[in-house]
Amino acid sequence: MLKGMKIKEVLALREPGQQITVNGWVRSVRDSKEILFAMLNDGSCMDSLQVVVDAANPGFKAVKQAGAGAALSVHGVLVASQGKGQALELKADAITVLGACPEDYPLQKKRHSFEFLRTIAHLRPRTNTFGAIFRVRNTAAWAIHKFFQERGFLYVHTPIISSSDAEGAGQIFQVTTLDLANPPRTPEGAIDYAQDFFGQKTGLTVSGQLEGETFAMAFGEIYTFGPTFRAENSNTARHASEFWMIEPEACFYDLDDDVKLAEDFLRFITATVLDNCGDDLKFLDERIEPGLLARLEAVRSAKFNRVTYTQAIEILEASGKTFDYKPSWGIDLQTEHERYLAEEHFKGPVFVTDYPKEIKAFYMKLNSDGKTVRAMDLLVPKVGEIIGGSQREDNLEVLEARMKELHLKPEDYSWYLDLRRYGSAPHAGFGLGFERTIMYLTGMPNIRDVVPYPRTPGSAEF
Ligand code: 4AD
Ligand code: MG
Repeated sequence: MLKGMKIKEVLALREPGQQITVNGWVRSVRDSKEILFAMLNDGSCMDSLQVVVDAANPGFKAVKQAGAGAALSVHGVLVASQGKGQALELKADAITVLGACPEDYPLQKKRHSFEFLRTIAHLRPRTNTFGAIFRVRNTAAWAIHKFFQERGFLYVHTPIISSSDAEGAGQIFQVTTLDLANPPRTPEGAIDYAQDFFGQKTGLTVSGQLEGETFAMAFGEIYTFGPTFRAENSNTARHASEFWMIEPEACFYDLDDDVKLAEDFLRFITATVLDNCGDDLKFLDERIEPGLLARLEAVRSAKFNRVTYTQAIEILEASGKTFDYKPSWGIDLQTEHERYLAEEHFKGPVFVTDYPKEIKAFYMKLNSDGKTVRAMDLLVPKVGEIIGGSQREDNLEVLEARMKELHLKPEDYSWYLDLRRYGSAPHAGFGLGFERTIMYLTGMPNIRDVVPYPRTPGSAEF
């Protein structure tokens, strides 16, 4: 039997004497004439297990030759460690080199730049930093399901191939099996999508919200957690073309209920990661963002701030700062504005509500002023916008009028409008960007470094 114990479990043991098998990759080797030390890591935790091999053991020469990066299976006994840094170490008796690692291994002991590591995205999970990031990502995903499941929200799988534009922003990646060199044409000369695979024009979803709303109108409280795609040509450190989004949608909620849910949600994810990824966060605090732990600890108890868009613009205008993009009522907030509000002015997460209708999606509930909508964005230090949400327009006439103003065809959204025809009820929801959440939790400044294989304009390698 090859399967062994996880190194995380081994390092949690307190007593020497146990016979165990472990498998993993050598992070580093050091040896003298009599003895060899190999640090073995299996990805289960930040720390490696020290494996000690006597010169008399046939594994001595084999491990030395196999090199750093090699895969080993080690059987031995746990003994009290003589050296500093660990209580127990594994005194090897039988060692199998499963896969040697020659000297052209791209991961050398020196520190590599994140740019370089992106070119070897298939190997970077083996580094300390990416080990920490992807363990945090895993724990955050678990926390998200735990949060909603404990509160009775239904997990719904909305489609990935979609025929509607949920955000009405036209940033859709098309899905087609038509011959691009010679597509079928209508008599008028347009491409005839009736002959395409689905009998109509389709694309990858930008959001599961609209389908999510249909389930909220049956199950009350639901959430989605899945990939979304945006053909947005913005080459920034916080935009990816493929990213994961969590979209709760809740019936009988108004904007205040929605804000409360979002605050509880982000606090729960942060606390769960703090409670379960201590070693990883400590490492990231040392290497990536000094003060990360304190910033996250503050989220456990801090009350999130809340201002209207109009107040936010006033704060920006009064800030005395020169922004690249001058703030004035009506503009869409830019990253520099969002980060000023969260990092410098409020020094913590802040909800901005009631944006001008012109800069928000068609489905948001119109306020009685006729100018603003019941929108809320959550802005956080380091990232800026991490959540976008709103109370939804539940009045059929108002919604149809909004769609026409925006040149959207109500008949393209007939099933969505049916929700306002049959048993309409107030409801609200939001979308949390999963990658931006991981940036927030790890302090990593670039979205390309919190996704296993980032997809951004001009780049879809691996
Ligand atoms: O603000 P957005 O566009 O809102 C929606 O999609 C709504 N349908 C959500 C809802 O109400 N159910 O996107 C929500 C969040 C943003 O706040 C951001 O965190 C993330 O998704 N996001 C992106 N993350 C990475 N790359 C991109 N290109 C992103 N676009 C949005
Ligand atoms: Mg948004």
